[in-house]
Formats: sequence, C-alpha cells, structure tokens
Amino acid sequence: MNKQPIGIFDSGVGGLSIWSEIKALLPNENTIYLADSANAPYGNKTTQEIVALCIKNTELLISKGCKLIVVACNTATTNAISVLRARYKVPFIGIEPAIKPASLQTKTNRIGILATKGTLNSRLFAETSKKHLINCKIIEQVGEGLVPLIENGKLHSNKTKQLLVKYIQPMLDQEVDCLVLGCTHYPFLIPMIQEMTNGKMTIIDSGLAVARQTKAVLIKENMLATLPQDTTHQLYSNTQLNTIQILLASIPKNVALKFKDF
Ligand code: DGL
Repeated sequence: MNKQPIGIFDSGVGGLSIWSEIKALLPNENTIYLADSANAPYGNKTTQEIVALCIKNTELLISKGCKLIVVACNTATTNAISVLRARYKVPFIGIEPAIKPASLQTKTNRIGILATKGTLNSRLFAETSKKHLINCKIIEQVGEGLVPLIENGKLHSNKTKQLLVKYIQPMLDQEVDCLVLGCTHYPFLIPMIQEMTNGKMTIIDSGLAVARQTKAVLIKENMLATLPQDTTHQLYSNTQLNTIQILLASIPKNVALKFKDF
C-alpha cells in the first residue's frame, strides 16, 4: 500500500505548483500527475461540467492504483470535491483559497482574492469567506485570461503583465495588504506580482498547506511511505508537453513526461 502513488490532478499545469510542494515534503512517495490541459480552463465551465471532468480524472488515477488523490485545483475542489468524496473510497485532499491565513495576517483588514469565476461563484467559497471574513473587507477579482497564458508558458509576456496590473492595481489603491492566490496556476506568476507590488502585499498561496495536509492524512490512514525508496513521478498531459518543460526548468531523472489522450 505504501508504495502506491499519490494521484494529483488539475485542469492543466497549475497543479504542478502543488506537486512540487508534495514532492519536497514527501520524498519517499511516488506520484502520478494529470494535467487536463485539453479541457483548461475549468474556471469558466458549469459545475456540472467540472464535476464530469473531475470524475474522469479521478477514475484514471484510481485505475493506476493511486492511494490518495489531491485535487490540485481550487475550481475543481470548490465545485466537485463533495461529489468525489461521496463516490469513491480513496481519500481526497482539496485546495481552497487561503482566506483564513489572510484574515489573520492583514493589518489593513483588506484582503484581495484572485481566483477563477468558478471558484468565486461556488457555494463552498461563499461559506468559507462568510466564516473567516467577519472584520475584513474582501476584494474579489476574477483572473480572466491568466490561465490560458500560463498554459502556454507565457509567464513573462507583456499581456500577462498588463492583466496583472489591471487586476492588482485597484487592490493596491484600496490598501489591500494580503493577496490570496486562489488558483494553483497563479504561483507561477509570483515573481512578476512581487515586482509589481514592491513589498506592499503579502502573497498567500496554499501549496505548502496542501502538502502538509496530504502528509497528515497519509499518516492517519497508515499509508505513508516511510522507507527511502527509488521514487518515480509520472506527469501526464493530454496536450503538448512544452509548458511542463518551461515551468519545471530542469526535469530530474525520476520524472517522466508522458502524453496521453484522456
Ligand atoms: N488551476 C485551477 C485552479 O486552481 C484552475 C484554472 C482553470 O482551469 O480555470 O482553480
């Protein structure tokens, strides 16, 4: 059981930001990652469409023997994780915008959230924000257009910069001091956001928290790979693999990039 891989999926390459945290925190674990880039972005789809795509991804990961599944996508988590948990026995870890940590860190009581339309419109997001944002003003912003740019590896393009300025400058103008990245694609833009905001905002993402939660659940379920072993990591994409190469910069020997039509 312990050697069975952890399954991770996202609408595309964004969840690699979570995969990297999991790989670093759990060095004895094997992983299988699915980048469903052919269907990205999920953020503009209906809940019903998102649920159907999540079921497809989950069934592929279960067929490959995954012992636990990380839904490395805020949009998929907020729209589909309850359906997945009700339908499959395997434990699921999800990711949601880190509203609570932001509410504890803000000094201006103004929090900005950059996420997809699907996440910001979801019931789960509404419930979580209601719970944690009692004394805070929240400025929600849909990151329209950012996911396709990241899917195409355009991390440093003028268009990317223009969109970030358009979305973040109004937050700076309203004295937002904590910016929650509510989409797993966005951590790849942190260097550009830092350059723009020049220390005026704390940028909060949930990658490390998800890796820690994954470890806690593996321990609780007695599934943790405790012994050092030669690990393998399989990264599947249903489009071309170029962007994965751009995002990971160097691909270690135990990481295999595979095209698969799923
Ligand atoms: N990476 C995804 C998220 O965390 C979704 C992007 C999308 O497909 O719209 O929300």
